Amino acid sequence: MKEAAIIIENITKKFEDATAVDGLNLVVEKGELFGLLGPNGAGKTTTINILCGLLKPTTGSVKVGGYDALKEPGKIKELIGVSPQETAVYPHLTGKENIELFANLHAMPKEKRNRNVDDLLQKLSLRDQAKRRAGKYSGGMMRRINLAMALVHDPEIAFLDEPTVGMDPQSRRAVWDFIRELRKQNKTVLLTTHYMEEAEELCDRVGIIDNGKLISLDTPQQLKRQFKAKNLEEVFLQLTGKRIREEV
Ligand SMILES: Nc1ncnc2c1ncn2[C@@H]1O[C@H](COP(=O)(O)OP(=O)(O)OP(=O)(O)O)[C@@H](O)[C@H]1O
Ligand SMILES: [Mg+2]
Repeated sequence: MKEAAIIIENITKKFEDATAVDGLNLVVEKGELFGLLGPNGAGKTTTINILCGLLKPTTGSVKVGGYDALKEPGKIKELIGVSPQETAVYPHLTGKENIELFANLHAMPKEKRNRNVDDLLQKLSLRDQAKRRAGKYSGGMMRRINLAMALVHDPEIAFLDEPTVGMDPQSRRAVWDFIRELRKQNKTVLLTTHYMEEAEELCDRVGIIDNGKLISLDTPQQLKRQFKAKNLEEVFLQLTGKRIREEV
């Protein structure tokens, strides 16, 4: 049997006026590139926040890298990297300094830090702009800096919440290549996206959620076959009677 990287057991998260996650069960295997798909408000970010130990679920439990995310958040900190949905950079630091800052938070030895920072700048096509203040970056570049900040300590498990939102097609493809490379290194990646072609292009399996519930789980190919659909947008439409993205 394959090893599990993430185990979500029956989690529910209730806010005052909303149930964001509603009885979610999910296992992501080690080395898997898993996509969590769903419309606005489906509960994707809330689930990631719970997995990272940033939020406590109302009920249920989660294990990340074999550790209980609620009872042992310190243990999972080094194992995970998180690129949040909301872009967050220190605007007065350069792009490179932003990445180095995160490396220092992980107390990385200087040599490894320099190697990893250079490697990420190169792979994410940020080298030319590395010495500019991050506050002056375009939105797509800030997203890429955020990815580098999330992954500079070379974590085993990456949570990427809409990693390519707002990127031009060329940058998006560069990030896809980058994410594929993580998979080749046997890293586990859980990503969210509203771009169905991204999910089809990248993901080994996708979980479709709506109103905090998992409504379908399979490989993109199998889902398309099962629903006799051209793409995952159509799968979602058939499952729920609504579109995953308003503008589609
Ligand atoms: N801190 C909070 N307080 C109250 N309600 C919240 C909070 N965070 C999220 N919610 C609600 O929980 C639900 C799920 O939100 P969540 O951000 O997890 O959705 P999402 O799938 O990530 O959506 P999007 O695609 O827009 O990013 C929404 O109804 C949202 O309004
Ligand atoms: Mg979200």
